[in-house]
Amino acid sequence: MYRAAFLLAVLSLMSPAAEALDNGLALKPTMGWLHWERFMCNINCNKDPDNCISEQLYMQMADVMVKEGWKDAGYEYVCIDDCWPSYQRDAQGRLQADPQRFPGGIKKLADYVHSKGLKLGIYADVGKNTCAGYPGSLGYYEIDAQTFADWEVDLLKFDGCNLKWTMLEEGYVKMSKALNKTGRSILYSCEWPLYEWAFQKPNYTAIRETCNHWRNFADVYDSWSSVKSILDWTVVHQDIIVPAAGPGGWNDPDMLVIGNFGLSHDQQESQMALWAIMAAPLLMSNDLRKICPRSKKLLQNRLIIDISQDPLGKQGYCTAKFDSFEVWERPLSNNRLAVAVLNRQEIGGARGFVIGAIPGWKICVPKCNVTQILPQYKEMGVQTSESKVILSVNPSGTALLTVTPINSDFTRMHKLRWQDVSFKHKQATIL
Ligand SMILES: *[C@@H]1O[C@H](CO)[C@@H](O)[C@H](O)[C@H]1NC(C)=O
Ligand SMILES: *[C@@H]1O[C@H](CO)[C@@H](O)[C@H](O)[C@H]1NC(C)=O
Ligand SMILES: *[C@@H]1O[C@H](CO)[C@@H](O)[C@H](O)[C@H]1NC(C)=O
Repeated sequence: MYRAAFLLAVLSLMSPAAEALDNGLALKPTMGWLHWERFMCNINCNKDPDNCISEQLYMQMADVMVKEGWKDAGYEYVCIDDCWPSYQRDAQGRLQADPQRFPGGIKKLADYVHSKGLKLGIYADVGKNTCAGYPGSLGYYEIDAQTFADWEVDLLKFDGCNLKWTMLEEGYVKMSKALNKTGRSILYSCEWPLYEWAFQKPNYTAIRETCNHWRNFADVYDSWSSVKSILDWTVVHQDIIVPAAGPGGWNDPDMLVIGNFGLSHDQQESQMALWAIMAAPLLMSNDLRKICPRSKKLLQNRLIIDISQDPLGKQGYCTAKFDSFEVWERPLSNNRLAVAVLNRQEIGGARGFVIGAIPGWKICVPKCNVTQILPQYKEMGVQTSESKVILSVNPSGTALLTVTPINSDFTRMHKLRWQDVSFKHKQATIL
Protein backbone atom coordinates (compact mmCIF):
# COMPACT_ATOMS: atom_id res chain seq x y z
CA MET A 1 0.00 0.00 0.00
CA TYR A 2 2.65 2.42 1.09
CA ARG A 3 4.69 1.52 -1.91
CA ALA A 4 1.82 2.09 -4.32
CA ALA A 5 1.05 5.46 -2.83
CA PHE A 6 4.69 6.42 -3.08
CA LEU A 7 4.84 5.43 -6.73
CA LEU A 8 1.71 7.38 -7.46
CA ALA A 9 3.23 10.43 -5.86
CA VAL A 10 6.28 9.94 -8.05
CA LEU A 11 4.13 9.62 -11.16
CA SER A 12 2.24 12.79 -10.37
CA LEU A 13 5.56 14.59 -10.04
CA MET A 14 6.51 13.27 -13.44
CA SER A 15 3.49 14.56 -15.35
CA PRO A 16 2.50 18.15 -16.06
CA ALA A 17 0.04 19.81 -13.74
CA ALA A 18 -2.78 20.16 -16.23
CA GLU A 19 -4.12 19.34 -19.63
CA ALA A 20 -2.58 21.22 -22.51
CA LEU A 21 -4.57 23.16 -25.09
CA ASP A 22 -5.98 20.43 -27.32
CA ASN A 23 -4.99 21.62 -30.79
CA GLY A 24 -2.29 19.07 -31.51
CA LEU A 25 0.43 21.75 -31.73
CA ALA A 26 3.63 22.62 -29.86
CA LEU A 27 4.21 19.05 -28.74
CA LYS A 28 7.84 20.18 -28.66
CA PRO A 29 9.04 23.74 -28.02
CA THR A 30 8.34 25.90 -31.08
CA MET A 31 11.31 26.76 -33.29
CA GLY A 32 11.50 29.68 -35.67
CA TRP A 33 12.25 33.33 -36.15
CA LEU A 34 10.38 36.40 -34.83
CA HIS A 35 11.08 39.95 -35.94
CA TRP A 36 10.64 41.99 -32.75
CA GLU A 37 13.91 42.24 -30.85
CA ARG A 38 16.02 42.91 -33.94
CA PHE A 39 13.66 44.89 -36.18
CA MET A 40 11.16 46.32 -33.66
CA CYS A 41 8.71 48.82 -35.15
CA ASN A 42 10.86 49.99 -38.03
CA ILE A 43 8.27 51.13 -40.57
CA ASN A 44 10.53 53.49 -42.47
CA CYS A 45 10.73 51.65 -45.76
CA ASN A 46 11.79 54.75 -47.67
CA LYS A 47 14.98 55.28 -45.69
CA ASP A 48 15.65 51.72 -44.54
CA PRO A 49 14.03 49.34 -47.05
CA ASP A 50 16.09 46.29 -46.06
CA ASN A 51 15.22 46.44 -42.37
CA CYS A 52 11.68 47.78 -42.26
CA ILE A 53 8.63 45.69 -41.38
CA SER A 54 7.50 44.70 -44.86
CA GLU A 55 6.63 41.54 -46.77
CA GLN A 56 10.13 41.59 -48.24
CA LEU A 57 11.69 41.06 -44.80
CA TYR A 58 9.77 37.83 -44.15
CA MET A 59 10.25 36.56 -47.71
CA GLN A 60 13.99 37.09 -47.47
CA MET A 61 14.12 35.46 -44.05
CA ALA A 62 12.17 32.46 -45.38
CA ASP A 63 14.57 32.18 -48.35
CA VAL A 64 17.59 32.21 -46.06
CA MET A 65 16.03 29.74 -43.64
CA VAL A 66 15.75 27.21 -46.44
CA LYS A 67 19.09 27.95 -48.10
CA GLU A 68 21.29 28.20 -45.04
CA GLY A 69 20.28 25.11 -43.11
CA TRP A 70 17.90 26.74 -40.61
CA LYS A 71 14.88 24.77 -41.78
CA ASP A 72 16.86 21.54 -41.73
CA ALA A 73 17.96 22.31 -38.17
CA GLY A 74 14.29 22.54 -37.15
CA TYR A 75 13.50 26.28 -37.35
CA GLU A 76 10.07 26.30 -38.92
CA TYR A 77 7.98 29.39 -38.08
CA VAL A 78 8.63 32.79 -39.70
CA CYS A 79 6.84 35.18 -37.38
CA ILE A 80 5.57 38.71 -37.80
CA ASP A 81 5.38 40.83 -34.64
CA ASP A 82 3.77 44.26 -34.05
CA CYS A 83 3.48 47.06 -36.65
CA TRP A 84 2.28 45.02 -39.63
CA PRO A 85 -1.33 46.27 -39.89
CA SER A 86 -2.94 49.30 -41.34
CA TYR A 87 -4.28 51.74 -38.74
CA GLN A 88 -7.76 51.16 -40.24
CA ARG A 89 -9.83 48.00 -40.30
CA ASP A 90 -11.59 47.38 -43.62
CA ALA A 91 -15.29 47.99 -44.35
CA GLN A 92 -16.16 44.57 -42.88
CA GLY A 93 -14.24 45.31 -39.67
CA ARG A 94 -11.32 43.05 -40.59
CA LEU A 95 -7.67 43.77 -39.93
CA GLN A 96 -5.67 44.50 -43.05
CA ALA A 97 -1.95 44.69 -43.64
CA ASP A 98 -0.38 48.07 -44.29
CA PRO A 99 -0.87 48.42 -48.07
CA GLN A 100 2.48 50.12 -48.77
CA ARG A 101 4.62 47.68 -46.83
CA PHE A 102 2.62 44.52 -47.63
CA PRO A 103 1.35 45.15 -51.18
CA GLY A 104 0.61 41.44 -51.71
CA GLY A 105 -1.27 41.07 -48.42
CA ILE A 106 -0.81 38.44 -45.74
CA LYS A 107 -2.49 35.59 -47.62
CA LYS A 108 0.06 35.87 -50.43
CA LEU A 109 2.90 36.06 -47.92
CA ALA A 110 1.57 32.91 -46.21
CA ASP A 111 1.46 31.16 -49.60
CA TYR A 112 5.06 32.15 -50.22
CA VAL A 113 6.24 30.96 -46.82
CA HIS A 114 4.31 27.69 -47.24
CA SER A 115 5.87 27.16 -50.67
CA LYS A 116 9.21 27.04 -48.85
CA GLY A 117 7.93 24.37 -46.48
CA LEU A 118 7.79 26.85 -43.58
CA LYS A 119 4.98 28.30 -41.48
CA LEU A 120 3.83 31.89 -40.96
CA GLY A 121 3.17 33.54 -37.61
CA ILE A 122 1.25 36.76 -37.05
CA TYR A 123 0.71 39.18 -34.15
CA ALA A 124 -2.32 40.78 -32.53
CA ASP A 125 -3.34 42.09 -29.12
CA VAL A 126 -6.04 41.11 -26.63
CA GLY A 127 -6.79 44.77 -25.84
CA LYS A 128 -8.03 47.89 -27.58
CA ASN A 129 -4.71 48.55 -29.32
CA THR A 130 -1.43 46.71 -29.83
CA CYS A 131 1.56 47.82 -27.76
CA ALA A 132 2.73 50.03 -30.65
CA GLY A 133 -0.75 51.56 -31.11
CA TYR A 134 -2.16 49.57 -34.03
CA PRO A 135 -5.75 48.21 -33.84
CA GLY A 136 -6.25 45.64 -31.10
CA SER A 137 -8.61 42.68 -31.16
CA LEU A 138 -10.89 43.64 -28.26
CA GLY A 139 -14.43 43.27 -29.56
CA TYR A 140 -13.14 41.51 -32.70
CA TYR A 141 -11.83 38.17 -31.42
CA GLU A 142 -13.94 35.99 -33.72
CA ILE A 143 -13.50 38.21 -36.77
CA ASP A 144 -9.72 38.37 -36.28
CA ALA A 145 -9.37 34.62 -35.67
CA GLN A 146 -11.35 33.96 -38.85
CA THR A 147 -9.28 36.48 -40.81
CA PHE A 148 -6.03 34.77 -39.72
CA ALA A 149 -7.49 31.36 -40.62
CA ASP A 150 -8.64 32.68 -44.03
CA TRP A 151 -5.10 33.92 -44.64
CA GLU A 152 -3.83 30.45 -43.66
CA VAL A 153 -1.68 31.77 -40.85
CA ASP A 154 -0.11 29.09 -38.60
CA LEU A 155 0.71 30.91 -35.35
CA LEU A 156 -0.72 33.86 -33.44
CA LYS A 157 1.32 35.83 -30.91
CA PHE A 158 -1.33 37.56 -28.82
CA ASP A 159 0.03 40.48 -26.80
CA GLY A 160 -1.55 41.90 -23.65
CA CYS A 161 -1.31 45.70 -23.93
CA ASN A 162 -4.19 48.11 -23.41
CA LEU A 163 -6.60 45.91 -21.51
CA LYS A 164 -7.68 46.07 -17.87
CA TRP A 165 -5.86 43.20 -16.16
CA THR A 166 -9.08 41.72 -14.73
CA MET A 167 -10.19 41.05 -18.32
CA LEU A 168 -7.05 39.17 -19.38
CA GLU A 169 -8.41 35.69 -18.66
CA GLU A 170 -11.66 36.32 -20.50
CA GLY A 171 -9.86 37.83 -23.49
CA TYR A 172 -7.22 35.12 -23.85
CA VAL A 173 -9.79 32.33 -23.39
CA LYS A 174 -12.18 33.89 -25.90
CA MET A 175 -9.46 34.16 -28.54
CA SER A 176 -8.40 30.57 -27.88
CA LYS A 177 -11.99 29.43 -28.48
CA ALA A 178 -12.31 31.66 -31.53
CA LEU A 179 -9.15 30.14 -33.05
CA ASN A 180 -10.47 26.64 -32.35
CA LYS A 181 -13.80 27.53 -33.98
CA THR A 182 -12.11 28.39 -37.27
CA GLY A 183 -11.13 24.71 -37.61
CA ARG A 184 -7.58 25.72 -38.61
CA SER A 185 -4.69 24.58 -36.39
CA ILE A 186 -3.13 27.85 -35.26
CA LEU A 187 -0.43 27.78 -32.62
CA TYR A 188 -1.43 30.19 -29.84
CA SER A 189 1.33 32.16 -28.14
CA CYS A 190 0.10 34.19 -25.15
CA GLU A 191 1.38 36.93 -22.86
CA TRP A 192 -1.37 36.52 -20.26
CA PRO A 193 0.79 35.70 -17.21
CA LEU A 194 3.29 38.48 -17.99
CA TYR A 195 0.53 41.07 -17.72
CA GLU A 196 -1.14 39.38 -14.74
CA TRP A 197 1.91 38.92 -12.46
CA ALA A 198 1.93 42.64 -11.57
CA PHE A 199 -1.42 42.10 -9.81
CA GLN A 200 -1.73 38.47 -8.76
CA LYS A 201 -0.33 34.97 -9.20
CA PRO A 202 -1.63 33.66 -12.53
CA ASN A 203 -3.56 30.39 -12.76
CA TYR A 204 -1.20 28.19 -14.77
CA THR A 205 -3.76 25.39 -15.01
CA ALA A 206 -6.06 27.71 -16.93
CA ILE A 207 -3.19 29.16 -18.97
CA ARG A 208 -1.99 25.71 -20.02
CA GLU A 209 -5.52 24.77 -21.10
CA THR A 210 -5.72 27.94 -23.21
CA CYS A 211 -2.30 28.61 -24.77
CA ASN A 212 0.57 26.73 -26.46
CA HIS A 213 3.16 28.94 -24.84
CA TRP A 214 3.07 31.94 -22.59
CA ARG A 215 5.40 34.80 -21.73
CA ASN A 216 5.93 35.25 -17.98
CA PHE A 217 8.41 38.07 -17.76
CA ALA A 218 9.68 41.24 -19.44
CA ASP A 219 10.83 41.46 -23.06
CA VAL A 220 14.34 40.26 -23.80
CA TYR A 221 16.87 42.92 -24.83
CA ASP A 222 20.15 42.47 -26.65
CA SER A 223 22.20 42.40 -23.44
CA TRP A 224 23.63 39.99 -20.90
CA SER A 225 21.88 41.86 -18.07
CA SER A 226 18.55 41.18 -19.77
CA VAL A 227 19.29 37.46 -20.23
CA LYS A 228 20.40 37.25 -16.58
CA SER A 229 17.24 38.98 -15.35
CA ILE A 230 15.13 36.40 -17.21
CA LEU A 231 17.11 33.52 -15.69
CA ASP A 232 16.86 35.07 -12.21
CA TRP A 233 13.10 35.53 -12.52
CA THR A 234 12.77 31.92 -13.65
CA VAL A 235 14.73 30.59 -10.67
CA VAL A 236 12.63 32.55 -8.19
CA HIS A 237 9.38 31.30 -9.75
CA GLN A 238 10.41 27.83 -10.90
CA ASP A 239 8.29 25.91 -8.40
CA ILE A 240 5.23 27.63 -9.90
CA ILE A 241 6.06 27.66 -13.60
CA VAL A 242 8.14 24.52 -14.27
CA PRO A 243 5.30 22.05 -13.49
CA ALA A 244 3.07 23.91 -15.97
CA ALA A 245 5.33 23.04 -18.93
CA GLY A 246 5.01 19.93 -21.04
CA PRO A 247 4.04 18.76 -24.52
CA GLY A 248 1.47 21.21 -25.92
CA GLY A 249 2.32 24.11 -23.59
CA TRP A 250 5.58 25.84 -22.61
CA ASN A 251 6.93 28.70 -20.57
CA ASP A 252 8.30 31.33 -22.96
CA PRO A 253 11.32 33.31 -21.69
CA ASP A 254 11.24 35.30 -24.97
CA MET A 255 13.46 35.39 -28.05
CA LEU A 256 17.01 34.20 -28.63
CA VAL A 257 19.13 37.28 -29.28
CA ILE A 258 22.13 35.24 -30.43
CA GLY A 259 23.82 36.68 -33.52
CA ASN A 260 23.14 40.34 -32.70
CA PHE A 261 25.32 42.93 -30.95
CA GLY A 262 24.99 42.65 -27.19
CA LEU A 263 26.19 39.20 -26.09
CA SER A 264 29.74 37.89 -26.06
CA HIS A 265 30.17 34.44 -27.53
CA ASP A 266 30.24 32.85 -24.08
CA GLN A 267 27.01 34.67 -23.24
CA GLN A 268 25.43 33.49 -26.50
CA GLU A 269 26.35 29.94 -25.53
CA SER A 270 24.78 30.51 -22.13
CA GLN A 271 21.52 31.72 -23.67
CA MET A 272 21.37 28.78 -26.07
CA ALA A 273 22.17 26.22 -23.37
CA LEU A 274 19.74 27.61 -20.81
CA TRP A 275 16.91 28.06 -23.32
CA ALA A 276 17.33 24.38 -24.21
CA ILE A 277 17.35 23.40 -20.51
CA MET A 278 14.20 25.51 -19.94
CA ALA A 279 12.37 23.76 -22.81
CA ALA A 280 11.79 27.26 -24.16
CA PRO A 281 10.50 28.09 -27.62
CA LEU A 282 13.57 28.77 -29.77
CA LEU A 283 12.45 31.89 -31.60
CA MET A 284 15.48 33.73 -32.92
CA SER A 285 15.35 37.48 -33.42
CA ASN A 286 18.36 38.36 -35.50
CA ASP A 287 19.28 39.04 -39.11
CA LEU A 288 19.75 35.64 -40.70
CA ARG A 289 20.87 37.38 -43.92
CA LYS A 290 24.06 38.48 -42.18
CA ILE A 291 24.92 36.48 -39.12
CA CYS A 292 28.40 35.53 -38.01
CA PRO A 293 29.35 31.90 -38.70
CA ARG A 294 30.05 31.16 -35.04
CA SER A 295 26.59 32.29 -33.93
CA LYS A 296 25.05 30.36 -36.79
CA LYS A 297 26.86 27.20 -35.79
CA LEU A 298 25.71 27.62 -32.20
CA LEU A 299 22.06 28.16 -33.17
CA GLN A 300 22.19 25.14 -35.48
CA ASN A 301 24.01 22.86 -33.01
CA ARG A 302 22.17 19.59 -33.39
CA LEU A 303 23.04 18.31 -29.91
CA ILE A 304 21.67 21.41 -28.17
CA ILE A 305 18.53 21.33 -30.32
CA ASP A 306 18.09 17.67 -29.36
CA ILE A 307 18.02 18.71 -25.70
CA SER A 308 15.48 21.44 -26.46
CA GLN A 309 13.26 19.05 -28.40
CA ASP A 310 13.65 16.02 -26.14
CA PRO A 311 10.50 13.86 -26.35
CA LEU A 312 10.06 13.59 -22.57
CA GLY A 313 9.03 17.25 -22.72
CA LYS A 314 10.00 18.24 -19.18
CA GLN A 315 11.36 21.67 -18.40
CA GLY A 316 14.60 21.78 -16.43
CA TYR A 317 15.26 23.86 -13.35
CA CYS A 318 18.03 25.34 -11.28
CA THR A 319 19.12 22.71 -8.77
CA ALA A 320 21.99 24.47 -7.04
CA LYS A 321 23.77 27.78 -6.64
CA PHE A 322 27.14 28.02 -5.00
CA ASP A 323 30.46 29.75 -5.37
CA SER A 324 28.94 31.93 -8.13
CA PHE A 325 28.06 28.86 -10.17
CA GLU A 326 24.50 27.98 -11.12
CA VAL A 327 23.62 24.36 -11.91
CA TRP A 328 20.59 23.73 -14.10
CA GLU A 329 19.32 20.23 -14.87
CA ARG A 330 16.75 18.88 -17.28
CA PRO A 331 15.54 15.27 -17.25
CA LEU A 332 15.62 13.75 -20.72
CA SER A 333 14.12 10.63 -22.26
CA ASN A 334 15.75 7.27 -21.47
CA ASN A 335 16.67 8.49 -17.98
CA ARG A 336 19.28 10.81 -19.37
CA LEU A 337 20.05 14.19 -17.91
CA ALA A 338 21.12 17.48 -19.46
CA VAL A 339 23.20 19.69 -17.18
CA ALA A 340 24.21 23.31 -17.60
CA VAL A 341 26.81 24.85 -15.30
CA LEU A 342 26.76 28.63 -15.62
CA ASN A 343 29.63 30.71 -14.25
CA ARG A 344 28.05 33.87 -12.85
CA GLN A 345 31.35 35.40 -11.75
CA GLU A 346 32.11 38.23 -14.17
CA ILE A 347 35.73 38.81 -13.31
CA GLY A 348 38.90 36.84 -13.91
CA GLY A 349 39.26 33.83 -16.18
CA ALA A 350 37.82 30.35 -16.53
CA ARG A 351 37.01 28.63 -13.24
CA GLY A 352 36.93 24.93 -12.44
CA PHE A 353 33.77 23.13 -11.39
CA VAL A 354 33.93 19.61 -9.96
CA ILE A 355 31.53 17.60 -12.04
CA GLY A 356 30.51 15.33 -9.16
CA ALA A 357 29.02 18.38 -7.34
CA ILE A 358 25.97 18.37 -9.62
CA PRO A 359 22.90 17.34 -7.54
CA GLY A 360 21.71 15.01 -10.34
CA TRP A 361 25.05 13.21 -10.32
CA LYS A 362 23.17 10.48 -8.40
CA ILE A 363 22.38 8.87 -11.74
CA CYS A 364 26.09 8.10 -11.99
CA VAL A 365 25.65 5.27 -9.46
CA PRO A 366 27.13 2.92 -10.44
CA LYS A 367 28.32 4.58 -13.66
CA CYS A 368 27.40 7.08 -16.34
CA ASN A 369 28.65 8.29 -19.68
CA VAL A 370 29.27 12.03 -19.97
CA THR A 371 29.36 14.11 -23.12
CA GLN A 372 30.23 17.79 -23.05
CA ILE A 373 28.44 19.81 -25.75
CA LEU A 374 29.53 23.34 -24.80
CA PRO A 375 31.91 25.13 -24.80
CA GLN A 376 33.23 22.43 -27.12
CA TYR A 377 32.24 18.89 -27.94
CA LYS A 378 34.16 16.42 -25.82
CA GLU A 379 33.44 12.84 -24.91
CA MET A 380 34.30 12.69 -21.24
CA GLY A 381 33.76 8.96 -21.09
CA VAL A 382 32.50 6.71 -18.35
CA GLN A 383 32.39 8.27 -14.88
CA THR A 384 31.42 7.03 -11.45
CA SER A 385 29.90 8.70 -8.43
CA GLU A 386 33.41 9.45 -7.17
CA SER A 387 34.44 11.24 -10.34
CA LYS A 388 36.93 14.05 -9.87
CA VAL A 389 36.65 15.47 -13.38
CA ILE A 390 36.75 19.25 -13.45
CA LEU A 391 34.88 21.38 -15.97
CA SER A 392 36.33 24.69 -17.06
CA VAL A 393 33.74 27.46 -17.36
CA ASN A 394 34.45 30.97 -18.64
CA PRO A 395 32.98 34.06 -16.92
CA SER A 396 29.30 34.35 -18.00
CA GLY A 397 29.79 31.14 -20.01
CA THR A 398 28.17 27.75 -19.61
CA ALA A 399 29.32 24.16 -19.76
CA LEU A 400 26.55 22.01 -21.20
CA LEU A 401 26.61 18.23 -20.73
CA THR A 402 24.49 15.18 -21.22
CA VAL A 403 24.76 12.39 -18.68
CA THR A 404 23.60 8.89 -19.56
CA PRO A 405 23.27 6.35 -16.74
CA ILE A 406 24.95 3.03 -17.48
CA ASN A 407 23.94 -0.33 -16.40
CA SER A 408 20.93 0.37 -14.26
CA ASP A 409 18.36 -2.07 -15.49
CA PHE A 410 15.39 -0.55 -13.82
CA THR A 411 13.89 2.63 -14.99
CA ARG A 412 11.92 3.00 -11.78
CA MET A 413 15.02 3.50 -9.73
CA HIS A 414 15.84 6.52 -11.82
CA LYS A 415 12.42 7.97 -11.38
CA LEU A 416 12.83 7.68 -7.64
CA ARG A 417 16.19 9.32 -7.90
CA TRP A 418 14.61 12.12 -9.86
CA GLN A 419 12.27 12.72 -7.01
CA ASP A 420 15.26 12.93 -4.69
CA VAL A 421 16.73 15.56 -6.93
CA SER A 422 13.65 17.73 -6.92
CA PHE A 423 13.33 17.39 -3.16
CA LYS A 424 16.92 18.26 -2.74
CA HIS A 425 16.59 21.37 -4.79
CA LYS A 426 13.79 22.59 -2.53
CA GLN A 427 15.98 22.48 0.58
CA ALA A 428 19.12 23.45 -1.15
CA THR A 429 21.71 25.94 -1.60
CA ILE A 430 19.27 28.00 -3.65
CA LEU A 431 18.63 31.60 -2.58
C1 LIG B 1 -10.85 22.29 -30.99
O1 LIG B 1 -11.02 21.74 -29.69
C2 LIG B 1 -11.41 20.38 -29.70
C3 LIG B 1 -11.74 19.95 -28.28
O2 LIG B 1 -10.86 20.47 -27.33
C4 LIG B 1 -10.28 19.55 -30.30
O3 LIG B 1 -10.62 18.18 -30.32
C5 LIG B 1 -10.03 20.05 -31.72
O4 LIG B 1 -8.94 19.36 -32.30
C6 LIG B 1 -9.73 21.54 -31.72
N1 LIG B 1 -9.61 22.02 -33.08
C7 LIG B 1 -8.65 22.84 -33.48
C8 LIG B 1 -8.66 23.25 -34.91
O5 LIG B 1 -7.79 23.28 -32.72
C1 LIG C 1 -7.61 27.64 -12.21
O1 LIG C 1 -8.13 27.23 -13.45
C2 LIG C 1 -8.70 25.94 -13.42
C3 LIG C 1 -9.01 25.53 -14.84
O2 LIG C 1 -9.68 26.52 -15.53
C4 LIG C 1 -9.91 25.94 -12.51
O3 LIG C 1 -10.50 24.67 -12.47
C5 LIG C 1 -9.47 26.38 -11.12
O4 LIG C 1 -10.60 26.50 -10.28
C6 LIG C 1 -8.72 27.69 -11.17
N1 LIG C 1 -8.13 27.94 -9.87
C7 LIG C 1 -8.30 29.09 -9.22
C8 LIG C 1 -7.63 29.21 -7.91
O5 LIG C 1 -8.99 29.99 -9.67
C1 LIG D 1 29.50 7.53 -24.46
O1 LIG D 1 28.90 8.54 -25.30
C2 LIG D 1 29.59 8.75 -26.51
C3 LIG D 1 28.96 9.92 -27.24
O2 LIG D 1 27.61 9.71 -27.42
C4 LIG D 1 29.59 7.45 -27.34
O3 LIG D 1 30.29 7.66 -28.52
C5 LIG D 1 30.22 6.33 -26.51
O4 LIG D 1 30.14 5.13 -27.22
C6 LIG D 1 29.53 6.20 -25.18
N1 LIG D 1 30.26 5.24 -24.35
C7 LIG D 1 29.64 4.28 -23.64
C8 LIG D 1 30.52 3.37 -22.85
O5 LIG D 1 28.42 4.14 -23.63
